[in-house]
Amino acid sequence: MSNLYVVDHPLITHKLSIMRNKKTGSKDFRELLDEIAMLMGYELTRDLPLEDINIETPVTKMKAKAISGKKLAIVPILRAGLGMVDGLQRLIPVAKVGHIGLYRDPETHLPIEYYCKLPPDIDERIVILVDPMLATGGSAVDALTMLKNKGCKHVRFMCLVAAPEGVKHVQDKHPDVDIYTAALDEGLNEHAYIVPGLGDAGDRIFGTL
Ligand code: PRP
Ligand code: URA
Repeated sequence: MSNLYVVDHPLITHKLSIMRNKKTGSKDFRELLDEIAMLMGYELTRDLPLEDINIETPVTKMKAKAISGKKLAIVPILRAGLGMVDGLQRLIPVAKVGHIGLYRDPETHLPIEYYCKLPPDIDERIVILVDPMLATGGSAVDALTMLKNKGCKHVRFMCLVAAPEGVKHVQDKHPDVDIYTAALDEGLNEHAYIVPGLGDAGDRIFGTL
């Protein structure tokens, strides 16, 4: 069974509360999402392995530590996942970025795929799949299946707000994928929106309300 990490550092929780407020406009919403993505990225990369490297300081030679092993990729689910890319890239500037385009059908709430462009060596990378909202989990589950069909073996999922239904869906279908979220909310309403949530993340980022 995958792990669920609720990354509820006071700074993250405070920034998320501002984002939840319906009076917060797109500019602030985007900036806060960017900041939270970077803060969560710090926690999400905590277990990256280190290796010894030989360097010379101005004083002497030393064995220093550097991140070793696999390379990383950041994959946002379009559109809203785009809002979390810059924050993570600031932490991991060498990470490649892939894109998966999915939107929820307003009637069925099922995800519909419209785009997929991934780095050619994605199967050799640790992949961080990002999307602010984990509601029914349909979009995350489909994106994870797409990544695994391309051979990805090491994937973690990062969101901002999760519903218990979405967490369960991902854990049932992809028990190997750890989930990182800033908050675990109460549940879903009749439109499959997260309650209390923050509304439609894509619309709030891009001002298309
Ligand atoms: C939102 C959100 C997720 C999805 C979550 O995207 O960004 O991708 O819904 O819902 P789920 O867990 O029930 O699948 P949306 O379909 O609204 O597309 P957008 O990002 O282009 O606005
Ligand atoms: N997508 C969103 O943007 N918000 C929700 O609450 C659910 C799905």
